[in-house]
Amino acid sequence: MPQNLLIKGPEKGVRLLTLHRPEALNALNTALLGEIAAALDEAEADPETRAVVITGSEKAFAAGADINEMAARDLVGILEDPRQAHWQRIARFPKPIIAAINGFALGGGCELAMHADILIAGENARFGQPEINLGIMPGAGGTQRLRRALGPSLTMQLVLTGEQISAERALQAGLISEICPTELTVERAIRIAEIIAEKAPLAVRLTKEAVHKAADTDLATGLRFERHAFTLLAGTADRAEGLKAFQEKRKPQFKGC
Ligand code: HXC
Repeated sequence: MPQNLLIKGPEKGVRLLTLHRPEALNALNTALLGEIAAALDEAEADPETRAVVITGSEKAFAAGADINEMAARDLVGILEDPRQAHWQRIARFPKPIIAAINGFALGGGCELAMHADILIAGENARFGQPEINLGIMPGAGGTQRLRRALGPSLTMQLVLTGEQISAERALQAGLISEICPTELTVERAIRIAEIIAEKAPLAVRLTKEAVHKAADTDLATGLRFERHAFTLLAGTADRAEGLKAFQEKRKPQFKGC
């Protein structure tokens, strides 16, 4: 049973993970990070789960890695840190993740948000990588994923000054795709996840992978991957069903094969 994470569902194909360490603004200690990774492993194995929503509280999505835990760790401790493996499991998750971000998404919290495929934020959301204020730097993808999302100038400004940006600025810069009234963020993220949950699972999975390729490879390799994935789907029953349902003017019934 996770101690720091509430797990709900799947309902209508959507599993909701709520970070729950209110005493530390959902700071990502090793236990919580491990619970997120384990919950995603479970969601991956469950065919009823088609998409996952990750959220925190209205005050904080997550205020970063747990600074007290980090302070107790020396160089060898960092080298042997199990957290790296947890982050890799989160990054590998093949189904769509929608982050519903209210309040602070700082440091590791901002990095966790960037592991999501779609980022929806409440009006009160604040994003930042304040590690520089602690004499350290981002260590779970912040320099790389922010650079891809925001471009060089704003990324440098954030990681070198530790300044935070508002939801409005994050939307304008392309880090998130929507802003909602704070109390509606989770509802909106679940609705988006439900829409995705109705689509053909194999098409969803390959589409997610293809979009990730755009960040990971050169254009020619990415285009080749897209073509192969597109061709692979030609062998699925869901493709036949999707095309037939259109012709018959009815809703498709996808089965995941
Ligand atoms: C441990 C934390 C914490 C954190 C907040 N708390 N952030 N505990 N690790 N990252 C605790 C506080 O100590 C406090 O506990 C309680 O949560 C409430 O926080 P306050 O500071 O009282 O709240 P507030 O005044 O509203 O300020 C909110 C805040 C501030 C601006 C978010 O808490 C803050 O600056 N937090 C640190 C943010 C940060 O530097 N994150 C990056 C961490 S490094 P008590 O017991 O006093 O009530 C990182 C590296 C990632 O993420 C590397 C990945 C490999």
